[in-house]
This record gives sequence, C-alpha cells and structure tokens, in this order.
Amino acid sequence: MARDARVKVLHKVGTVKHAVHAEKVGYDAVTIAGFEEGGFPHKDNVSTMVLVPKVREAVNLPILAAGGMADGKSLAAAIALGADGIMMATRFLATRESGVHPNIYKVLVEKTESDTALQLQSLLAGFGLQVRALRNEIMEKIAEIEEKGGNLGELLPLISGERARKVWKDGNTEEAMLTIGQSVGRINDIPTVAELVERMTIDAKEALESGLQAFS
Ligand SMILES: Cc1cc2nc3c(=O)[nH]c(=O)nc-3n(C[C@H](O)[C@H](O)[C@H](O)COP(=O)(O)O)c2cc1C
Repeated sequence: MARDARVKVLHKVGTVKHAVHAEKVGYDAVTIAGFEEGGFPHKDNVSTMVLVPKVREAVNLPILAAGGMADGKSLAAAIALGADGIMMATRFLATRESGVHPNIYKVLVEKTESDTALQLQSLLAGFGLQVRALRNEIMEKIAEIEEKGGNLGELLPLISGERARKVWKDGNTEEAMLTIGQSVGRINDIPTVAELVERMTIDAKEALESGLQAFS
C-alpha cells in the first residue's frame, strides 16, 4: 500500500534510532514496527501509536506502520499518524490464500488481543529483540526455562523453525511458538486477500472522512 512506486530496499526497524540510521545508510523506505507486532518486536516495548509519528518526524523516507494493523480503521490511523502505508502479517495469515491448517484459522478468529505473550528476552535481548506469540503450552515451558535461567540448549528444541513450520501445517497449536500479534483480537473472518484489501480500503476512507466530521 506504499504510495511511492520507486521504493527499492525496505528495512524493518523497531526504534526511532534505527529508522534514522536506516535513512543515513541509504535504505529507500522503512517499516516501523510497534511492540504489538507478532514475531520479533523490539525489547523497548514501545507501541506503534507512539513510534509512527516519531519516525515520521525523524526521517524523510516513505514509512510503513506495522504491529496492530488489521483493518480499515488501523490503516486510517496509520495514515493519520503519518505513515505512507502499512504492513500486516497476522491478518494475512487469516486469509484463504495462506493455506494454514484449519486449527490455526480457528485460533486466528477466536483468540483475543490478550492471548499473546512476550518471551525469549533471555536469548534475544542482546539483539534488542524478544518474541511475541500465541499463549500456549510451549510458551509456558519457555517462560519456566527462562525464569530458572535456562540456557540455549534447553530452549532450542522448543523454538526451532522446524517445529513451527510443522505446526502451521498440522495444526497442533500447543506444540510450537505461533508468532502472531495483538492484531489477532481484530480478526473475525477468513476472507480472500482481494476481499480483505478492498474492504480495508473502503473502511479506511470512511474512517478518515467520518473523523474529519468531528472538526466541522
Ligand atoms: C508468522 C509470522 C512470522 C514472522 N516472522 C518474522 C521474521 O522472521 N522476522 C521479522 O523481523 N519479523 C517477523 N514477523 C513479523 C512481521 O514481519 C510483522 O512485522 C508483524 O507481524 C506485524 O504485526 P502483525 O502480525 O500484528 O501484523 C513475523 C510475523 C508472523 C505473523
């Protein structure tokens, strides 16, 4: 949804400082991801709501807002905050084209914004990162290991990419880290990508127009 068709190299960052650096070293655009995001948010736990306008004021590049983006309202909010477009991951998992197991579709439709957790700070804080994923048995086991100061050897079998890859396909949703964001709380259906994008465009326009009426 970026407006600038010339964008070539996009860099994803989780802090204002890293967005400024991305501009300095020559990236064409940045995605700024708040801690709502699924996957690997920055350890500072700053929200998209705060990061997007700060990055808008700090860099002259096109910017995409990520984390918490799921519908026309969040698209409208991102634009109002100064973003040129948005990036979504969790919401696109909940489309017919993603081809995840039916159990995963069920999770995506039924789970709320309170059903994700942050973990792996013990392993990833050195890189400035952590993991946000669905609260499940594996995340509880990871929390126990981290609390008692466990090492990489204990964590690795639980967090391997191979384990996660299997679960997206076979649907045992307790068996791996399912990296989804708080935006899962805004998902109620499994449309096609085309239906989703069309609906979001219409809803975003409506949200921005009705927002303007508040000032008339
Ligand atoms: C299944 C899945 C896998 C992801 N893997 C990565 C990854 O390997 N590296 C990364 O930087 N971000 C990863 N992300 C984060 C996304 O790139 C994106 O920033 C984030 O999901 C946006 O938040 P949302 O899921 O609420 O839309 C992943 C997200 C999901 C849902």
